[in-house]
Amino acid sequence: MSDRGPDAAAFADTARQYRHFAEREARGRSPLYEALATVVASDLEVLAFLQTLPPAKRQPNLLLAAVRHLFGTPTDGQDFRRRLMSGLAAVKRLMMERSTQTNEPARCATLLPVLARLPQPLALIEVGASAGLCLLPDLYGYDYGRVRIAAEGTAAPVFPCIANAATPLPATPPQVAWRAGLDLHLVDAIDPQKRTWLESLVWPEQTDRLTRLRAALDVACAMAPRIMAGDLRTDLAALAAEAPQRATLVIFHTAVLSYVVSQQERDAFAETARRLAGCWISNEAPAVFPDIAARAGRTAPTGRFLLSVDGLPTAWTDPHGAAIDWIGA
Ligand SMILES: C[S@@+](CC[C@H](N)C(=O)[O-])C[C@H]1O[C@@H](n2cnc3c(N)ncnc32)[C@H](O)[C@@H]1O
Repeated sequence: MSDRGPDAAAFADTARQYRHFAEREARGRSPLYEALATVVASDLEVLAFLQTLPPAKRQPNLLLAAVRHLFGTPTDGQDFRRRLMSGLAAVKRLMMERSTQTNEPARCATLLPVLARLPQPLALIEVGASAGLCLLPDLYGYDYGRVRIAAEGTAAPVFPCIANAATPLPATPPQVAWRAGLDLHLVDAIDPQKRTWLESLVWPEQTDRLTRLRAALDVACAMAPRIMAGDLRTDLAALAAEAPQRATLVIFHTAVLSYVVSQQERDAFAETARRLAGCWISNEAPAVFPDIAARAGRTAPTGRFLLSVDGLPTAWTDPHGAAIDWIGA
């Protein structure tokens, strides 16, 4: 707490969160979101509105998606403010009801080099699966520039991904014998309202990403991957016990463990995943597992996720799956 009191400290924290989002996450990816988050960071009225929400609900992605979901995409900061202020109650209701379950199937492009090197076939468990789009890596196409992998069906999305020379790119997709997901909040890819919310979570200028998301949602509707309601901290072992013995059990997660606030709980989960799985893949912000990041041998490149396999740093990845830089050989 600062000596200006709890309110001033909370305002300053939220302002810092929006400034960080503008400068570290949106810059170079979404000029509109960079501008909107910058406006919020210095707007006392909007910051006051955010203080009426629990801290976990003050996230930039949640506020920006909620306003767009309800009132369409604003043209600039002033337009954003106008839309927000005219519908504060509705925005608050939606932010309380929904969460940032952004499901980014393009992250499969960064998982593929690891999955393809494992003894096949695979049994996949994704914790924090959202609608399960990352559980379908064998059904999408990939364009790594020097290597292209065709999609299963012509309507399936093809994910572009820039891979450094050291990345061991596969020639074919992995064989998946079994798959299941676990998530605190189930997202049914068939439910039109859930679909629209997932679409609102895609940043405004990223129209190609939106097109690929819609195509992946169609694949998920057809495949209906099984997602169980549950908590990764307590329900993983029961799900892992269902996996077939003849396949390599892979437990993985992308952009999930930062939602588990306690480092002790994250480490306990990691221990469980390593004990249960033939392979544990983590694709998260480097701060999520500082011990693993410390072994990566250099400061984390700005805005990158760290992909690790069984606790070993393996690659720096773009958080939305657009690039992979393999570490070492
Ligand atoms: C940002 S989404 C990422 C979805 C997906 N992994 C991807 O990369 O596209 C994070 C997901 O983790 C889920 N989640 C957060 N904490 C969890 C927990 N303790 N147990 C299970 N799921 C959790 C959320 O409900 C949400 O669907």
